[in-house]
Amino acid sequence: MSEAGRSVLAAREVVKKFSGPDGSVIEVLNGANLSVSQGESLSIRGESGSGKSTFLNVISWLDQPDGGSVVWDGTEVPRISSREIARRRSEVLGFVFQSYCLMPELDVLENVLMAARVLGRIGRPEKERAENLLCQVGLQDRLKQLPGKLSGGERQRVAIARALINRPSVLLADEPTGNLDEKTADTVMELLLHLCRDETAALVLVTHNPLFAKRADRQVTLSGGRFNDQ
Ligand SMILES: Nc1ncnc2c1ncn2[C@@H]1O[C@H](COP(=O)(O)OP(=O)(O)OP(=O)(O)O)[C@@H](O)[C@H]1O
Ligand SMILES: [Mg+2]
Repeated sequence: MSEAGRSVLAAREVVKKFSGPDGSVIEVLNGANLSVSQGESLSIRGESGSGKSTFLNVISWLDQPDGGSVVWDGTEVPRISSREIARRRSEVLGFVFQSYCLMPELDVLENVLMAARVLGRIGRPEKERAENLLCQVGLQDRLKQLPGKLSGGERQRVAIARALINRPSVLLADEPTGNLDEKTADTVMELLLHLCRDETAALVLVTHNPLFAKRADRQVTLSGGRFNDQ
């Protein structure tokens, strides 16, 4: 397979069930298949409750599937929960959430560096890369600011820099513009697509916004626990 077509993330026949309050079983993912190629952007749409966030949790192994397998950078994730998997997750995947999830007591630069620290990367190159990414998202003058003093759009730009610091193969974004006004959402989406392209990071974007979904190289919808390519 050519380098450009190399799969960096795959879900194979993934099944995920939850038990409801009355003891009934809800099958949220029902044999879901998806493969993401190196540097590709892919958008996922689907009704509320269709299982988009569940799918992201399962492919990042934050929640193990009940059936099927998940493959990161060509290697199947073993069915164990270990520190090694957590480490590998931090190397392969970056995350951007709707609610930013920044550490309130750490300044902007420290928030970005924190993601490198968990991999024991604490040197000058990381600091320079963090500063460079924050410059690319337009926050070069806010390095020492605490997140509480930033706007929603600015917080999400910090989160994007944090998600990219470890040069992940894939960035997973769950409704990253869900809390932002239209204009700010547009700017953040542009940055996300542009930076992922620059960094050759694949992007898996969950969004309810059809215009944002269309900006991705490929669009899929999740319904009935499976993906239907559009
Ligand atoms: N831990 C859990 N226990 C029981 N049910 C759950 C759990 N997590 C999710 N669910 C159920 O699984 C279904 C899918 O939820 P999920 O959050 O993945 O949907 P979603 O597509 O991300 O929706 P939205 O667009 O509103 O974010 C929902 O019916 C939800 O109630
Ligand atoms: Mg969701």
